[in-house]
Amino acid sequence: MYNAYFGFSECPFSLSPNPSFYFRSALHEEALANLCYGIQSRKGFIVLTGEVGTGKTTLLECLRDSLDSQHVAFAFLFNSRLTVDQFFQMIAYDLDLRCDKTSKTEVLFALNSFLLEQASQNRTTALIIDEAHNLEWDVLEEVRLLGNLETRHGKLLQIVLAGQTELDRKLDAPELRQLKQRIVLRSKLEAFSPADTERYIAARFEKAGMPDQTVFSPEILSEIHFRSQGIPRLINSISDNLLLTCFALDCKMATLAMLDEVSRDLRLEWPEGRRALATAHPAF
Ligand SMILES: Nc1ncnc2c1ncn2[C@@H]1O[C@H](COP(=O)(O)OP(=O)(O)O)[C@@H](O)[C@H]1O
Ligand SMILES: [Mg+2]
Repeated sequence: MYNAYFGFSECPFSLSPNPSFYFRSALHEEALANLCYGIQSRKGFIVLTGEVGTGKTTLLECLRDSLDSQHVAFAFLFNSRLTVDQFFQMIAYDLDLRCDKTSKTEVLFALNSFLLEQASQNRTTALIIDEAHNLEWDVLEEVRLLGNLETRHGKLLQIVLAGQTELDRKLDAPELRQLKQRIVLRSKLEAFSPADTERYIAARFEKAGMPDQTVFSPEILSEIHFRSQGIPRLINSISDNLLLTCFALDCKMATLAMLDEVSRDLRLEWPEGRRALATAHPAF
């Protein structure tokens, strides 16, 4: 809506997990390297956790690009509210298995042959499950069994489980002890530091066509960090709303009063002890 007003070529703060906007924070880079290494080394389960909005899905999208470029076959399940039958059906579609995709037995048989064929050609196959904290117990049990498939050279299927921190608690359940023991790599995404928040916002402005942004002053940037607690999704929502407010008021620089208004609209909550809302500001 405000793209033309600011001269952006695309929306800088969209909420989609678009890898072309990927910002290489040290934590994201380490997590991505772990995922790639874990898959390539064929050792079994890899777990990625992080609070809502810290960038898990974005990272998986980057992983998808990286696996595509290395011709690694993979199934990517982004909807984890699945029954066991739907779970196998999704895998069969993603890996393009030639079988009756509605029959678990047939899918398992075809999957096994496919994995052995891949292994015989020294090729890696991965299963990536986003929102894995939502998986039902019976589906998790199937995931565990798939993780058992192996030859003497290693695991046949590399499994990435990504989810919110409840996933860790779920994996602590006694029924999943065996799965937990097989987790070879764990990564956790955390919120950005203040410096990363600034760089992240600058990088998004730059990608959208404004390399040296002047819309957000250093004071606004530091307030955005504080009010978002460094969570990328919140940074995006706040920034997007701020730009919209600037546009609506025909103003090329955001003000604290605008940020207060946006914070109220988004019902943001942040720790006490810092500047209160600038409600005293009579106008923008
Ligand atoms: N490293 C990053 N680089 C670019 N954008 C990011 C990054 N991390 C998070 N984001 C952005 O933050 C928002 C939330 O990210 P998402 O991957 O959906 O989080 P999660 O899956 O952990 O809830 C998205 O708009 C996404 O583009
Ligand atoms: Mg996500």
